[in-house]
Order: sequence, then C-alpha cells, then structure tokens
Amino acid sequence: MSADASGTNPDFHEPVMLSEVLDALRIIPGGRYLDATVGEGGHARAILQAASPGGQLLGIDADPEAIASAEKRLEQFGSSVRLVNENFVEMQAVATRYGFAPMHGVLMDLGVSSLQLDREARGFSFRRPDPLDMRFSSDRELDASQIVNTYPERELGDLIYRYGDERASRRIASAIVRNRPIKDAQQLAEIISSVKPRGRRHIHSATQTFQALRIAVNDEMKALEIGLEQAVNVLGMGGLMVVISYHSIEDRIVKNFIRTAVSDCVCDADSRRSPVCTCNHVPTLEPVIKGALMPTASEVEANPRSRSAKLRVARRI
Ligand SMILES: C[S@@+](CC[C@H](N)C(=O)[O-])C[C@H]1O[C@@H](n2cnc3c(N)ncnc32)[C@H](O)[C@@H]1O
Repeated sequence: MSADASGTNPDFHEPVMLSEVLDALRIIPGGRYLDATVGEGGHARAILQAASPGGQLLGIDADPEAIASAEKRLEQFGSSVRLVNENFVEMQAVATRYGFAPMHGVLMDLGVSSLQLDREARGFSFRRPDPLDMRFSSDRELDASQIVNTYPERELGDLIYRYGDERASRRIASAIVRNRPIKDAQQLAEIISSVKPRGRRHIHSATQTFQALRIAVNDEMKALEIGLEQAVNVLGMGGLMVVISYHSIEDRIVKNFIRTAVSDCVCDADSRRSPVCTCNHVPTLEPVIKGALMPTASEVEANPRSRSAKLRVARRI
C-alpha cells in the first residue's frame, strides 16, 4: 500500500475491499482457502467466517511479526487455520506440505500493512527517524540503507524511476548522493522534499521513492510473477484467484499475467500475423470480470489507504 501513515483504525490493518473480496472468492462452507499475504488476518478472518462450518485457511506472510499478529487475531478458529512465515514464492510447496492443495480460492493482497507502516525501526514510513530497513523479513541481506548509501547515482535514479514511476528520479538520486550518508527515513524524506515539490492529490513527495526502495529491497516484482504462477498451480478446477494491487507497476504485472493465462494463443507479434497458431498455449484461467474493481468512494473516504487499490479476479480452468 502507499506509504501514507493515515488510516481509520489505529489498532490493526483495515482489510481493503473486503466485501468485494468475499464476493469474488464465492466462498463455500467447508472450502479451502489460501491467503498468501495474511498480514494481520483481516481478510482471513472474514474468509474463515464465511467458510464455516468446516472451512480451512492457510495463511502465509514473509513478515514474522505479521504472522504473530494474525495468530492472535485468528485464535478463535483453532485448527481451521494454519499460519506459515514464508515468502509466497513458496506457496505451492507450503500448500503441499500442509495438505491444503487443491484450493477453492487464493487471495493476494499485495504491498505493506498498517502494522508495518506504523511499526518503528522498519523505515517504511517517512514520518519518523527510523533506520532505513524496509525488509519484510530480516532474512534478506539487502536493506534500504545499502541502496540509498551505496548505489551509483545512475542505478539509483533508474530504480526510483522504474519502481516508483517517479519523473523526478534523476533529481532525487542526485540529491541523495550529495547528502550521503543518510541515516534515517525522515532525513531521506526531507532530502526528497527539498528537490521535489509536493506530489499530486496531496501525496507526500517521498511516497514514490519509498515505494521504489521497498519494491527493490524485497524484490517484489519478481516475487509477484512467481507467486501468480504458483497461485494458479495450487487452485483446483473452478478455483478463484483474487489479487489486489496498489500501484500501476504491480497492477500491470497482474493484468498481463491474467491476459496471457486466459489466451489460447500467445504467439509473438510476428507469428500472430500468420493464420496458424504455433505456440499451442493452453489457457489455465478464464476471466471472471472485465478489467479491475476499485474501492467505492465511501471506502476511500473511510480508509484512505484503499484509494489506489485494484482488484482482479480469474477462475482456474
Ligand atoms: C496489505 S498487507 C495484507 C493485509 C491483510 N490482507 C489483512 O487483511 O490484514 C500485505 C502483506 O503481504 C506481505 N507480503 C508482501 N510480499 C510478500 C511476499 N512476497 N510473500 C509473503 N508475504 C508478502 C506483507 O508482509 C504484508 O503483511
């Protein structure tokens, strides 16, 4: 989600587009569901309620603190829930290990949770002088401080442009390099603000750069591509895949993945001109809705963190 520290409920992450998620998953009592980004268990809890009696949920999260928080929130569901601290690139292995596949539905609610944004010492929020970490899991070697303080200016600018869709990327990279060493998230945000005026719709000037750093630190785009493939593999026939993304780079990956998976021909542009398909591609998904769903105006007003959400759904065939 965006690195905005606002939100409606200070105690836990407000699940985004909850009723749309439940509708899209067409939850059935006794069904088996995978929440690949369980976070604080907001969606998971509602899925378990809708799937009772007999429903089961496997929840995965790369962040051990998210798993600890979901454990508390989902305690009442006892053995109907299994929570695993793992990256979703491993979801197929995890689902097989715990005997969950094939699934009736998989949810991927991408990005960061309110818990992560608000937690000190992680550096996701630009409003506090926290260390520049931004790792979902401390297993990763690369953190945001290493990128900010050691990457060559050109590489840093490219990264901010590519993962942040940031037009001022060159100016920001140059200011970062000039001000090294950068100690904390707040200092970084101030450096960015000094060379970039406030963004559109009152979005903080540092939002896109922070997003870019987080994506790079956690290798999020590669993880998403692998995770989407695995989601298809763990679904049973007719099972539903629901993905919520929070920025255009993520959404493009999801949209292109679904577009390819639903096609019966993925011949490249040249061979498409030929009347005969040579790729023999077999579709693995069918579309459920055209395009993406977005949150209602009232949800965005109640929970500003939902404002950039896009929900896409597809069915396993
Ligand atoms: C927007 S939050 C999910 C919130 C959750 N749906 C809820 O209702 O509480 C996204 C979560 O995905 C996790 N995450 C992001 N990338 C991941 C990955 N590659 N593997 C596993 N978890 C990941 C983050 O740690 C974060 O907890």
